[in-house]
Amino acid sequence: MCGIVGYVGRSAGRVNTEHNALDVVLEGLRRLEYRGYDSAGIAVVSDGAISSRKKSGKLSNLVAELEARPLPESLTGIGHTRWATHGGPTDQNAHPHLADGGKLALIHNGIIENFAELKLELLGKGVEFASETDTEVAAALLGDIYRNRLGGDAADGGLTRAMELACQRLEGAFTLLAVHAEQPDVVVAARRNSPLVVGLGEGENFLGSDVSGFIDYTRRAVELGQDQIVTITADSVEITDFYGAPAEGKEYHVNWDPASAEKGGFPSFMEKEIHDQPDAVLQTLLGRSDVHGKLTLDELRIDPALLKSVDKIIVLACGTSAYAGQVAKYAIEHWCRIPTEVELSHEFRYRDPIVDENTLIVSISQSGETMDTLMAVRYAKEQGAKTVSICNTNGSTIPRESDAVLYTHAGPEIAVASTKAFLAQITAAYLLGLYLAQLRGNKFQGEIKDILADLGKIPAKIQQILDNEEQIKELGRSMADAKSVLFLGRHVGFPVAMEGALKLKELAYIHAEGFAAGELKHGPIALIEEGQPVFVVVPSPRGRDSLHAKVVSNIQEVRARGAKTIVIAEEGDEAVKAYAEHVFYIPETPTLLAPLLSTVPLQIFALELASAKGYDVDQPRNLAKSVTVE
Ligand code: M6R
Repeated sequence: MCGIVGYVGRSAGRVNTEHNALDVVLEGLRRLEYRGYDSAGIAVVSDGAISSRKKSGKLSNLVAELEARPLPESLTGIGHTRWATHGGPTDQNAHPHLADGGKLALIHNGIIENFAELKLELLGKGVEFASETDTEVAAALLGDIYRNRLGGDAADGGLTRAMELACQRLEGAFTLLAVHAEQPDVVVAARRNSPLVVGLGEGENFLGSDVSGFIDYTRRAVELGQDQIVTITADSVEITDFYGAPAEGKEYHVNWDPASAEKGGFPSFMEKEIHDQPDAVLQTLLGRSDVHGKLTLDELRIDPALLKSVDKIIVLACGTSAYAGQVAKYAIEHWCRIPTEVELSHEFRYRDPIVDENTLIVSISQSGETMDTLMAVRYAKEQGAKTVSICNTNGSTIPRESDAVLYTHAGPEIAVASTKAFLAQITAAYLLGLYLAQLRGNKFQGEIKDILADLGKIPAKIQQILDNEEQIKELGRSMADAKSVLFLGRHVGFPVAMEGALKLKELAYIHAEGFAAGELKHGPIALIEEGQPVFVVVPSPRGRDSLHAKVVSNIQEVRARGAKTIVIAEEGDEAVKAYAEHVFYIPETPTLLAPLLSTVPLQIFALELASAKGYDVDQPRNLAKSVTVE
């Protein structure tokens, strides 16, 4: 939620970075807009004054405003793209917020929980507020401390010291970035439970909610810890805690290039990311086993003895990531014989869960910043559980706070609706399941090798589906007027059905539900009326204990009541043809791996239907890519 960028460069005549702060900050915001697009704003420091512009709506509105009313050239600036929490998405509520008589500008991601109490206190001092936001309260507090407590004296620590004192009073989650007209070469930032990374340049330094905020300029990044303050100038990066004690960040190299965060010729990021999926799965598998099929998950730095003693796994995640967990549950229980629960992170700690040192917590998060998941992981750690994070974002908070991490290597996912991360998450969770099975001796090495070989064939099979996407695209376009679409699945097909429904809800804003096909007769079948579109994810007819016949019966049941049935089935499955208005075939694959294929047509369908309705598939309404507030 909310994208944040900060920049300080060095002037011409010294090491000239030749970057105007406005350009750098705008470019960063363009890349971070997926984090929130209710409004955007920028402040720069120039000629001893702060100049700012802000506009409700997408970044393009701010760009138009900047063309109409340009900002002065500057070497220091901050920028924000907002997902509204306190106060609607108006110009007034957009960040930056000014304080100290317009000399201080502040942007914020997160929620200040004690803002009401602080606001009363500041109102009592005569401060006036122009917005409904908690951010303006934080700005006013910082301004008040800077001017009235520290006397505006840079020698007394200035903005950095004021930030420390302000953070000591703030409760909640926040990333704050501030600039002050009296310290034109400095951006000061603070973080608590909200993301912030530093970018290291030559004669210039950067701040961003994530590395995409500065990826065009540097690949050297520094992770910050919790409750830290960072002061950047063109030549220095100083980190302290909220009480001024020096602290250190951890430098790392960003291993993706800016081009991987571009659309690459596709009309949308989402379409590009759907097409990235063969590579996302391939990269996630790469280098994780030796020639004998022995899994070597080097990153998984948890004592094997501890992993052997695990008697329960709890997967914690939200949204699409939770569906990846639900898919993985079937495989992990089957391969490892360890009871596995999947819990929505935001529900977890409120139900007094049974967690102890023999519990393995597996959190799944694309962003690594989802606050609900972070809080659930922390809670589980407090109970003594071991925690493994499956994550796509290097250096993000959840993997940093977990005992071990298994990175998915899907590359940056920019579209708000998750696609390639989902397939990469399933792949990584499967690797974890196989690793546990190998360690605990639940599977022979040969069996693990065979499953890995099947996984290795998945990228080419996804590509095969993508090469034949026109049929499902056409169906998506033809159903642009649909009011409701239902999705049915069984076994691993059940979470796939729910993921198909979620994609349609978030992209096309139409009613969609995913059901376990077996549950149909217990209620949902009442929804079926003439012409109701129903997608059915059909399991393979091959293999032991196949549920194929039962799902075919479910298709017949809804069809008999007037449903328009659209079937995703395995190549060669002729039995479904008689009961389906449309059949989309996916390549043969073992049942447990089928979600890596059957999800793809559902993603394409949602994308195409939403595009036909003229919606922005990369930035659906009301959503943000990374949900950093509870
Ligand atoms: O970054 P995370 O994987 O933790 O995010 C979890 C959900 O917010 C996310 O999957 C969300 O449901 C997506 N919009 C789904 O497309």
